[in-house]
Amino acid sequence: MTDDSPRHDASRALDSTRIPAHVGIIMDGNGRWAQARGLSRSAGHRAGVENLRPVLEAAGEFGIRFLTLYAFSTENWSRPAAEVRALLLLAQSVIDRELDGLAQRGVRLRHLGRREGLEQALLRRLDAAEERTRDNDALTLNIAFNYGGRAEIVDASRLLVRDGVPAHEITEELISSRLATAGQPDLDLVIRTAGEMRLSNFMIWQAAYAEYYSTSTLWPDFGRDDLLLALQAYQSRRRRFGGLDQVS
Ligand code: FPP
Repeated sequence: MTDDSPRHDASRALDSTRIPAHVGIIMDGNGRWAQARGLSRSAGHRAGVENLRPVLEAAGEFGIRFLTLYAFSTENWSRPAAEVRALLLLAQSVIDRELDGLAQRGVRLRHLGRREGLEQALLRRLDAAEERTRDNDALTLNIAFNYGGRAEIVDASRLLVRDGVPAHEITEELISSRLATAGQPDLDLVIRTAGEMRLSNFMIWQAAYAEYYSTSTLWPDFGRDDLLLALQAYQSRRRRFGGLDQVS
């Protein structure tokens, strides 16, 4: 059962004081979208890439300040070589095509994920995009590419050891400070498209208290109104962070 039930209405206004600061999206369903049209899986990913700009614009319109997109997981290397190749090339070409527009709109781009395994051509583009947009603050766009949540925590632990932090001084704040999202708010809302109900190693530290929203819509079809429904569902939840509801 997914979460996009009809009690949510795309024409209903959002409460502008309760917009989630940080939203993560697990973009799933490109393959099913393509299969339904008799197209290759790579064509599905191309359609998925075309969907990035409208969703980003909608995120800006709704006042989301931090958006993290799960574009390529450490587990995705096990897909057929041609599909992996297509995803890596798509990543390069979307940066080439979109960077000017993103920079002009005040978007700060960040790469989350391991560098090992990625080609220089892609790393150069990611580095240049980060450098060029580092002072922007309208919206931070994290691209999780070659990303795994557990690997990120392992890497943060290694940094703490490298920095000589004694075991008894390790705190949650110190671990957060060594993650790729250091300085950013934790995730408030995780959206997953295509009906799955798994976190799939996505931001497992930062999503500890996030609300989770699953929609049956496939990623290439996910648009502004779908994002609005997800935000409405978020606003209808009571967040307790392990405590009890406030009694007035
Ligand atoms: C899941 O669909 C999607 C992916 C593994 C990749 C998501 C990537 C994009 C939307 C484009 C890449 C973005 C950038 C920034 C380069 P799936 O193939 O698992 O679909 P299925 O479950 O229907 O087979």
